[in-house]
Amino acid sequence: LGLWLIGARGGVAVTAIAGIIAQRLGLADGTALVSELPQFAHLPLVKWDDIVIGGHEIRSAPLADELERLHRESRVLSPQLVAACRPELEKIDAEIRPGTLWNVGPKITELADFHPPRNPQEQLPRDMIKRLQADLTDFQTRHKLDSVVVLNVASTEPLPNPALWPATWAEAEASLGRPECPLPASSLYAIAALELGLPFVNFTPSLGALPAGIDELARLRNTCHAGRDGKTGETLMKSVLAPMFAARNLKVMSWVGHNIFGNLDGKVLDDPANKQAKIQSKDRLITEILGYAPQTLISIEHIESLGDWKTAWDHIHFQGFLGTPMTLQFTWQGCDSILAAPLALDLVRFVSLAKNRGETGALPWLASFFKSPQGDPPAKFADQFRALESWARTLS
Ligand code: NAI
Repeated sequence: LGLWLIGARGGVAVTAIAGIIAQRLGLADGTALVSELPQFAHLPLVKWDDIVIGGHEIRSAPLADELERLHRESRVLSPQLVAACRPELEKIDAEIRPGTLWNVGPKITELADFHPPRNPQEQLPRDMIKRLQADLTDFQTRHKLDSVVVLNVASTEPLPNPALWPATWAEAEASLGRPECPLPASSLYAIAALELGLPFVNFTPSLGALPAGIDELARLRNTCHAGRDGKTGETLMKSVLAPMFAARNLKVMSWVGHNIFGNLDGKVLDDPANKQAKIQSKDRLITEILGYAPQTLISIEHIESLGDWKTAWDHIHFQGFLGTPMTLQFTWQGCDSILAAPLALDLVRFVSLAKNRGETGALPWLASFFKSPQGDPPAKFADQFRALESWARTLS
């Protein structure tokens, strides 16, 4: 299987690569990998040794340097693992191609120092998609891969106005030939993959394959997609705790979440346009689960010294019997990439199996992995996880 990472030199991507290498070398057990739970043991999931890695990027920093920086700044990986990864990372560097910056906004454009050779023919999104597809096809052919899963772990883009999202594939396709095409890079990557019949996973809050017109493309090409925005920390807690308040008939009056962290993702989210996409993705859940809208506030602040370590402090003000107000507070201190990478790998394994089984369109049984799951699944974590287990049971 090919794993094609969009944002291949980012924190989640390099940690996922290190995770694959650690599994291959027996340097780590299956802790935090959902796909390693006993209820999925019977599934013919891809083996770690059988994954070939490549990707698109807009920064040129060598992968080994990125992994070392993560290790140095955030003290997450053992020096033994960092050293063991170096030779493999050098090989993967040669498989990384320049991506596209179409409609990514100024904050992401600022990061870029890895560009395709200047090509006057490449002016419109359709031309860019052709280049991205040529990279994917070349990767698949050279390594004789049956399939490739395209995983978007690139920086969060500003979301375009929903009124401009294409409702049909015909509409999306026509807009690719126009300079005013509103779709962002994440959607161009999604289209590039799906048109080739390859599955696409969007681990970010960016638009990706969310518009109905792009979902239609997936169905037309008999392939599948999953998204959006990995549910790794604070939102995971929300999707577990909000159902508890609902089940005890406790009235949540307000839910405030403050997030502070210091990695590159946090730097990009410091821009109000990029931050808005993340906040929207984090905020919709509580109202959906409770069935009413308490006052909510979410803040995301970049505090450089914290590196990849994120602290979320949530303050939940609720009303009990006889109108008595009470408070639940929690702090979640997690290492962002270490939380995200195993979920990204689980998604690659599950989605590749779904593709082999002929599943098409959005995959709602993967909702437990996402903050804003596509395909109209239930909002409560327990229901979402049951859906994953039921899907697995149908394969026994
Ligand atoms: P990062 O900032 O370390 O990595 C993003 C990478 O994407 C960078 O190397 C950047 O150069 C690259 N990139 C940006 N635009 C690109 C484009 N148009 N084409 C190709 N590459 C591009 O961020 P990190 O921490 O790895 O997170 C990745 C994404 O996953 C972010 O969107 C984040 O919001 C999302 N995410 C992360 C979670 C976590 O770390 N716990 C949880 C849920 C989502």
